[in-house]
Amino acid sequence: MEVHLPEDHALRTLAADVRRGLTATPKTLPPKWFYDAHGSELFEQITRLPEYYPTRAEREILDARAAEIARITGAHTLVELGSGSSEKTRLLLDALRDNATLRQIVTLDVSETALRDATSALHAEYPTAAVHGVVGDFTEHLGLLPGEPLRLVAFLGGTLGNLLPDERAKFLRSIRDVLDPGEWLLLGTDLVKDPDTLVRAYDDAAGVTAEFNRNVLRVLNRELSADFDVDAFAHVALWDPVNEWIEMRLRATRPMRVQIPALGLQIAFAQDEELHTEISAKFRPATIAEELTAAGFTPTHHYTDSATRFALTLARST
Ligand code: SAH
Ligand code: AVI
Repeated sequence: MEVHLPEDHALRTLAADVRRGLTATPKTLPPKWFYDAHGSELFEQITRLPEYYPTRAEREILDARAAEIARITGAHTLVELGSGSSEKTRLLLDALRDNATLRQIVTLDVSETALRDATSALHAEYPTAAVHGVVGDFTEHLGLLPGEPLRLVAFLGGTLGNLLPDERAKFLRSIRDVLDPGEWLLLGTDLVKDPDTLVRAYDDAAGVTAEFNRNVLRVLNRELSADFDVDAFAHVALWDPVNEWIEMRLRATRPMRVQIPALGLQIAFAQDEELHTEISAKFRPATIAEELTAAGFTPTHHYTDSATRFALTLARST
């Protein structure tokens, strides 16, 4: 596994994000800080919840289409961004191996523990491919990625929806900038659907998503010696029909003063004040195609699961 960043890079960016986010109105934190070892494990649990359909829907599409995608792209290198456990990715890797084109696997994730587990499993399962795991932020470090043409970049799970619209336009362009013309992007996006289904997927009965949401406060307590009373924050998941995204927030159930000694900060929360922790945008097929085209891709194939809950779009870099 490869870490190209200075040892204190993560801590410095966490400190800067927390200072900026907790002194803003409304208070906000970037979702990438959910994913320490515990947060990555909680996300894996989320993918198995009955209410959380995106993982199963995307796997259904990959089950049906991976062989076709391998044939169309003929990729030698599979690059996965925000790879996590790379579980569904095996379907693509198997198809590329069966197509006799797979030579290299490159995974990039901010979660070092998730990446370490995934890359050692990939080494064992694909012994003839070179496996590189890169710790980094996909909005900043695409330039660090190894990988020879012909590349297929997979960005699965609907993680694009966790970026704000301007961030995702910039991010899609940055993928385009590292690809040569004729290389490929496979993009997973969750689709707009009835709000009940959406809200249940982000507010499950077992409370796993609530724990995932609160985990960001545990990360701040551990990494920055903050003293958040984690259980005094309630999980909130709501559907914003104008922006067509789910918003996750943490609501202070009483007035609080939080000390963050590593930053020399004291942060006051009013009763019921909400800290914004994540958006998860849902897409319409026409918008996906427009955004890819604006970033310099030609969308060539659009696949959905049988219940049209989730989409996988294959696009060629132009
Ligand atoms: N692709 C997997 C995992 C999705 S969870 C799937 O489809 O199931 C989102 C993943 O993206 C996590 O592993 C998280 O650590 C990673 N991640 C989130 N923000 C990131 C960022 N800014 N840069 C790199 N990785 C990020
Ligand atoms: C990683 N990402 C696509 C997930 C999502 O659905 O937006 C993160 C998540 N948040 C709550 N549950 C799952």
